[in-house]
Amino acid sequence: MVKHSLSKDKIRILLLEGVHDNAVQEFHARGYTNVELLPHALEEAELIEKIQGVHIVGIRSATRLTDKVLAAANRLICVGCFCIGTNQVRLDTARKAGIPVFNAPYSNTRSVAELVIGEMVMLLRGIPERSHLAHNGVWRKNAKNSFEMRGKTLGIVGYGHIGYQLSIMAEAMGMRVRYFDIEKKLAIGNAEPCSSLKELLEVSDVVSLHVPATPQTKNMIGEAEIRIMRKGSYLINASRGNVVDVDALVRALEDKHILGAAIDVFPAEPGSNDEEFVSPLRAFHNVILTPHVGGSTQEAQANIGVEVAEKLIKYSDNGSPVGAVNFVEVALPVKAGGTRFLHIHANVPGVLRRINELFSSRNLNVSAQYLQTDPEVGYVVVDLDGDVDEVELIGELHALDGTIRARYLY
Ligand code: NAI
Repeated sequence: MVKHSLSKDKIRILLLEGVHDNAVQEFHARGYTNVELLPHALEEAELIEKIQGVHIVGIRSATRLTDKVLAAANRLICVGCFCIGTNQVRLDTARKAGIPVFNAPYSNTRSVAELVIGEMVMLLRGIPERSHLAHNGVWRKNAKNSFEMRGKTLGIVGYGHIGYQLSIMAEAMGMRVRYFDIEKKLAIGNAEPCSSLKELLEVSDVVSLHVPATPQTKNMIGEAEIRIMRKGSYLINASRGNVVDVDALVRALEDKHILGAAIDVFPAEPGSNDEEFVSPLRAFHNVILTPHVGGSTQEAQANIGVEVAEKLIKYSDNGSPVGAVNFVEVALPVKAGGTRFLHIHANVPGVLRRINELFSSRNLNVSAQYLQTDPEVGYVVVDLDGDVDEVELIGELHALDGTIRARYLY
């Protein structure tokens, strides 16, 4: 078992914003019992005080880890964002301070895919409009524009985590699946790739978008693309707001080229639940509008709790920063015995030589060494066999020119 330079109950963990209880349980199960959970975010001044002496901090989207907060974090070894986004953390400042930041980019994959399945059923049956009419006392009992999804073709743009999960579920419902991705992606099940976006738009009864926000995907579904889509087809966007040109969609809904749509993400979204949602799509009763909740389920929150806690524990236990958004990737094996030194330093000439001199001058047997650098920061992990004076060595490592952070595990 890997032991820490600090016993695990001395490692202070501060979780803010009511991070899911699964995270706390995960820490406890792995021996980290010194966990404080607050139900809310803290303002900068409060956080500057609170973060001192904390080794691991967990936040969601409302806590800002600013330069000042990070400067006050005198013991911090890593940060967990128990959410998808990480722009609430000054990632570059954290990187230069030797603090990896982790998040959970894929914990809500299933939630998004399920919502899209539900939306397809609703759209193909014309339910949004019929429901609206029924709420207004109008009885619209007929089969006009009402279809099963079985046998229809779903075109998935972006065959990543959500895209291929959706592909499996749609096939299980009897749909044919085509997909388009800029990367070569292995087809799952009976899905078939399209050689271009144009081909996908031409053959699909429902087009569902699952691409990231990039310069290439900005307005990737505009006037021209919508007009290539089949007359009477449907559009679903639960990816990012600016992937669809909303004005072009409005025109296609007005002239019934598009029979219905489900939109979860928008070019401009309210900053809070108190702000009004403004969109020309509000006028269309055949459009399902949802407030960016594609990934917002209890299950996704629970998954996020476990996923991020596991990454933090792995880094604390093993030194492995795999999955960090701002740090070099070093996949480390579990340390079987001996002592592991973790040294984060400025990537300038001579640091590695000085570290190795330190160990060789003491005749210490290095059983493994791992190094990764980015242009400014280097991370070296050194496994030593036999008896070593960890306290003395770590003191000397700290004193080496260029050292940002150092710790050891034994
Ligand atoms: P992913 O990174 O696993 O997959 C994205 C795929 O899109 C990749 O296979 C990539 O190669 C492909 N791609 C990139 N540019 C492309 C282009 N120009 N044309 C075609 N394919 C392209 O991402 P994941 O997890 O599947 O998420 C997809 C989208 O869903 C992201 O934009 C993400 O922000 C969004 N999302 C929305 C949620 C919501 O609440 N509505 C929740 C979770 C994710």
